[in-house]
Amino acid sequence: MAGVVRLSFSIEKSLWERLQNLVTREGYANRSEFIRDLIRDKLVEKQWEENEEAIGTITFVYNHHIPKLNDKILNVQHKYLGVILTTTHIHLDHQLCAETVLVRGRAHKIQELCSALRKQKGVLHASISISSTGINLI
Ligand code: NI
Repeated sequence: MAGVVRLSFSIEKSLWERLQNLVTREGYANRSEFIRDLIRDKLVEKQWEENEEAIGTITFVYNHHIPKLNDKILNVQHKYLGVILTTTHIHLDHQLCAETVLVRGRAHKIQELCSALRKQKGVLHASISISSTGINLI
């Protein structure tokens, strides 16, 4: 295959066995594809550390009975309208709601948005699922 290199490396036998188990357990057709995905995961982590443009999803859970919390959440989201692509609201039960916020922008700005949401009294959990615009992953 053009543009493909073969490589070999040394690794402890115990790690090799764990690698084999992971490849099998996760249903990869071969080790190469598994290793490619590990490398891409690391590259995406680096893109986030270096504040490159990224995409991601922020998920947060909150108690909408807390006074003014809905207004505060909306104010935060309007402040970050440059990075928010869309939001989805889910009513979990009588008092709890969850929202997913699809975002695109500088990684640190996205982290700042997540932190601003997490800090609101009544927000019980907030986390980011990090991903990439795909640049430099091929
Ligand atoms: Ni709701």
